[in-house]
Amino acid sequence: MRVIGSINMDVVVEVERAPGTGETVLGSDYRLHPGGKGANQAVAAARLGAPVDMIGCLGQDAYGKALHEALQREALGLDHLHHVDTPSGAAFITVERNGQNRIVVAPGANAQLTAERLPSDLERTDWLLLQLEVPLETVATAARRVRSGGGRVVLNAAPARTLPDTLVEAVDYLVINETEAGVVLAVDPPTHAEDALQLANRLRTKHSTVVITLGAKGSVWSGPAGQGAVDALPVDVVDTTACGDAYVGALVWALSTGQPMWRAVELASANGALTATRAGAQPALPTIQELRCFASF
Ligand code: RIB
Repeated sequence: MRVIGSINMDVVVEVERAPGTGETVLGSDYRLHPGGKGANQAVAAARLGAPVDMIGCLGQDAYGKALHEALQREALGLDHLHHVDTPSGAAFITVERNGQNRIVVAPGANAQLTAERLPSDLERTDWLLLQLEVPLETVATAARRVRSGGGRVVLNAAPARTLPDTLVEAVDYLVINETEAGVVLAVDPPTHAEDALQLANRLRTKHSTVVITLGAKGSVWSGPAGQGAVDALPVDVVDTTACGDAYVGALVWALSTGQPMWRAVELASANGALTATRAGAQPALPTIQELRCFASF
């Protein structure tokens, strides 16, 4: 499996509640955690046992060095990490007492991941996992190249933006949360599974499967093999950062090992729920042993 995406240093502050416009609030001391949707999803899949190559850009700065070292501690292929003369990506995150977060990303080096920096043998990829924190043109080019080689393409459309048709056509699995689905379709976010299934049906192509996650309300999917819904497992939420990444990483790991869609969604959902019980992005991502124990399989 290959993951093409962002690598960020997360600067995290816990707050009683997020500030409103023009308001200042006092928070906790800040903490630094390795993050970035691309890196988080790569680490999530690798901790469950998937062989993963990470393709991305880091700055030649202290954060870049720390992020590279963090990725080296995971079982990831890092031959296609580029070190560029731009500050590393960073994300500024507030986490409220109820575990909900707000994130602002400064893309930095991630914006330097141009299509020219993609590996020359990309067409030989079996599973490709993409998000939208690196240039859209790179994402679309990578998706088309992998699909032309017969590989499977998974896109987590986060952060949400309008998707070009050429990208949509190259995607086999589109994973999106309820807010992002609302943005992409310019409608109100779905509030329950039936609404979400309708949006999934609008978003899917003839060959693609769409998964919409609904946080504590579970997730739904619709594709050529059918449709379904799973409830979220109830947990005591500490921090929802990277829950979506844990979900997507687990989904692709499960699909790449031949699990049927319903089972892959169940495992993804459990991995996301377990991640919500711990603080931070990559520090919170479960190992296969932890997932087995939590989801009893
Ligand atoms: O999905 C969570 C991630 O979004 C954080 O780790 C942050 O870096 C942003 O990319």
